[in-house]
Amino acid sequence: MKVLLTGGAGYIGSHTCIELLALGHDVIIVDNFSNSKPEALNRIREISGRDFKFYEADAADPEAMDRIFAENEIDCIIHFAGLKAVGESCHIPLRYYRNNLDSTITLLEAMEKHGVNNIVFSSSATVYGVPERVPLTEDMPAYKTSSPYGWTKIMSEQIFRDACAANPNLSVVLLRYFNPIGAHESGRIGEDPNGIPNNLMPYISQVAIGKLPKLGVFGNDYPTPDGTCVRDYIHVVDLAKGHAKAIEYAAAHKGAEAINLGTGIGYSVLDIVNSFMKVNDIDLPYEIQGRRDGDVPECYADPSKARELLGWVAEKGIEDMCRDSWNWQKNNPKGLD
Ligand code: NAD
Ligand code: UD1
Repeated sequence: MKVLLTGGAGYIGSHTCIELLALGHDVIIVDNFSNSKPEALNRIREISGRDFKFYEADAADPEAMDRIFAENEIDCIIHFAGLKAVGESCHIPLRYYRNNLDSTITLLEAMEKHGVNNIVFSSSATVYGVPERVPLTEDMPAYKTSSPYGWTKIMSEQIFRDACAANPNLSVVLLRYFNPIGAHESGRIGEDPNGIPNNLMPYISQVAIGKLPKLGVFGNDYPTPDGTCVRDYIHVVDLAKGHAKAIEYAAAHKGAEAINLGTGIGYSVLDIVNSFMKVNDIDLPYEIQGRRDGDVPECYADPSKARELLGWVAEKGIEDMCRDSWNWQKNNPKGLD
């Protein structure tokens, strides 16, 4: 298939690009480098040994998208492009709504004009808000998120559903990711956050490399086995493979389908910290701090729908995730700079 990846230079997009190229698909990447670097594209070529088309463009720019769709016979789109920092979205909500919603609408308009029917969208477990129960299933209500970022995912999902209701030829897979961590086993691509990381694994990696003095563990008085929050961490390469399955599914079906991509296993913050130290034989200074606003005690997926519809299950475990995250960080202490 010829697959257009918006945001393909980013963390999940670059890993997915490698999986798609390895499977023989042709890839076209569109990225505006708002949260990534051109060097990511060189690394993808290096790892895959294959080339692909690249456009530096904004996925929310109708003229640019029109030109890209006119120049390429696209079979399927994977729409990764989006701003993704939860805290930042509370400070600059309009930028988040403009970028994340306009890109979705612009792509759907270009698809309609050029007769492209299949798209896979990067949604998030954040759409479930505070879970009523775990594990989370796709039929649980998805309208209680707490941030503008989360609302852009809920609203985009709704826009896709409405577009499907109006066009019976359209096929949309809404992939709800849980907590992607890890990196390609080559150590050549990985997550490269700007500034001080908010998320757990990039923070741990930067403590391990000595960039940050110690990890704060946000709360140990939650109703969980060790008192720290539990999440469904998923290796980014497993996640990438889920996208390869999702484009096949999109090509064979019609309508909109939301699917969780998680392992179904919950690990606590201290599980991750201890595993990181053990697997990598490295000390990780940490201290227990107060709870972080908005954190929920437990969040993990029921991944059965992905198994049934996509034939996909996550294969990598917590040790792979901790080893590969560190391998990327230690080989690239300054990220892709
Ligand atoms: P990322 O920031 O590494 O990648 C996103 C890419 O999109 C970047 O390369 C950025 O430059 C590009 N981009 C942003 N807006 C654009 C625009 N208007 N036009 C063109 N390019 C644009 O993020 P990621 O972690 O790879 O996430 C990919 C997608 O998955 C995002 O939509 C994100 O919200 C979603 N998601 C991520 C996580 C996570 O924890 N990483 C979890 C759930 C959902
Ligand atoms: C984050 C996003 C969420 C997204 C999810 C999946 C936030 C607030 N939420 O969720 O929208 O769907 O990723 O990608 O960014 N922790 C520490 N110390 C730290 C950092 C984190 O103890 O320095 C703890 C947190 O309290 C949490 C766990 O580690 O319990 C994971 O945190 P994080 O990586 O930020 O992910 P989530 O909050 O689960």
